[in-house]
Amino acid sequence: MAGIAQGDHKDPRQGTRQGTRKLPFPEGFLWGAATAAHQVEGNNVNNDWWAFEQRRGAIWHGDRSGLACNWWCNAEADFDLMAGMGHNTHRLSVEWSRIEPEEGTFDAAAIARYREMLTGLRRRGIEPMVTLFHFSSPRWLARQGGWCNPAAVGHFRRFVRHAVDQLGDLVKLWCTINEPNVYAALGYLLGMHAPGEKNPRHCFQVLSHQLQAHAAAYRVIKALDGSAQVGLVVNLVVFEPLDPASRISVRAARLVDYVFHELTFRSVSDGKLRFPLSVSPVTHSPLIDSVDFWGANYYTRKRVSPQRQFLQLTPGAEVSDSGQFGPYGEIYPEGMCRVLKRVAALGKPIYITESGLPDADDDQRPRYLLTHLAQVQRAIAEGVDVRGYYHWSFTDNFEWAEGWALRFGLIALDEKTQVRAPRRSAQLYTDIIRANAITSEAVATYAHEVMGDIFR
Ligand code: GAL
Repeated sequence: MAGIAQGDHKDPRQGTRQGTRKLPFPEGFLWGAATAAHQVEGNNVNNDWWAFEQRRGAIWHGDRSGLACNWWCNAEADFDLMAGMGHNTHRLSVEWSRIEPEEGTFDAAAIARYREMLTGLRRRGIEPMVTLFHFSSPRWLARQGGWCNPAAVGHFRRFVRHAVDQLGDLVKLWCTINEPNVYAALGYLLGMHAPGEKNPRHCFQVLSHQLQAHAAAYRVIKALDGSAQVGLVVNLVVFEPLDPASRISVRAARLVDYVFHELTFRSVSDGKLRFPLSVSPVTHSPLIDSVDFWGANYYTRKRVSPQRQFLQLTPGAEVSDSGQFGPYGEIYPEGMCRVLKRVAALGKPIYITESGLPDADDDQRPRYLLTHLAQVQRAIAEGVDVRGYYHWSFTDNFEWAEGWALRFGLIALDEKTQVRAPRRSAQLYTDIIRANAITSEAVATYAHEVMGDIFR
């Protein structure tokens, strides 16, 4: 295993048994957190999520995004906190419905506010990574059938051209679309996210249109700024059969894995939209080789069992906090290294664009951070080109259908008073960033019980 410190070895980066031991990260590694416009800005009244929140039963406890984290008025308060914690990057998204509130009409004031935010990040030494679509669509688009309508591809292309033309001098790292796989599955198959549909045909249409929209955005951005780095963000779940001895479980796990991950990876590598994205395979050439990097979002492992409830937890595994759909997920650190190796095989650099857990009392997060980052370090030591890590999330924020119930922040937020209180994890993350390493001191201070797993 990478970074094993045993005896009085000579590697100065890792110290000795007597002194501090270290799992170092590469120089220039990007450290930050990730957010999404609708979850933090507040008063995004003009998008489909705002409308969805008004629907009875859509959001747990009837919660609303409301003011969210008040970023539209004062993101700078959190930027100050980030700078104080040593973050050198931040992943945020721009809200399409603010920039293009009516079809074909662009709002200069919204652009001005985003320029102010991006400049504010840069001034604090924080490199912005900007996502152009993170789950929320303008209402005018939703009225036209949203992402089921193939016209969404052209609409997105026009929006991206405008946003990148106006903001491109401040942004070198772009993500086109966040998690098309999750967006299609939760919004159009499972009915848990806006627009709340349960329609497999629509689910695959939406995935196909988002992949085409990604390709269009990639081409537009590269034409405007050849030096920009542009990626697509995919959510990676480790799917495994609940019963590895059951052939049907094994097959079901492979099938889910194919639909959730491989359809996207294969489309982007060879440009082919295959079944079920298209009834007969068609080649969409702009998709071929349309990423400079992959954004990997990793949270959890799921067990597949076609006999009973389809997706389950590993029996006996540690899980994070629960929401209306049960525990958010199994805590499975080894999965981080596994998914990174899988994505690395696609041959592009990787940013971990999200990873985290809901943990209101922060009794799991310090251990989560240490064990998952140890797996990132291991992947890097074994040759995977990981350029940065964005923790989900900076403060607690509006967690979609779970409302305010699930608390993902390094910093606790009271959404009513907007008062922030750093959790212990915030200090731990700062220590890791400052050392650019996981140190045995940090492990001893924050989660001594995993010392043996991290420094064997
Ligand atoms: C991701 C999503 C984020 C955030 C996170 C935690 O799938 O991109 O917006 O909600 O999950 O559940």
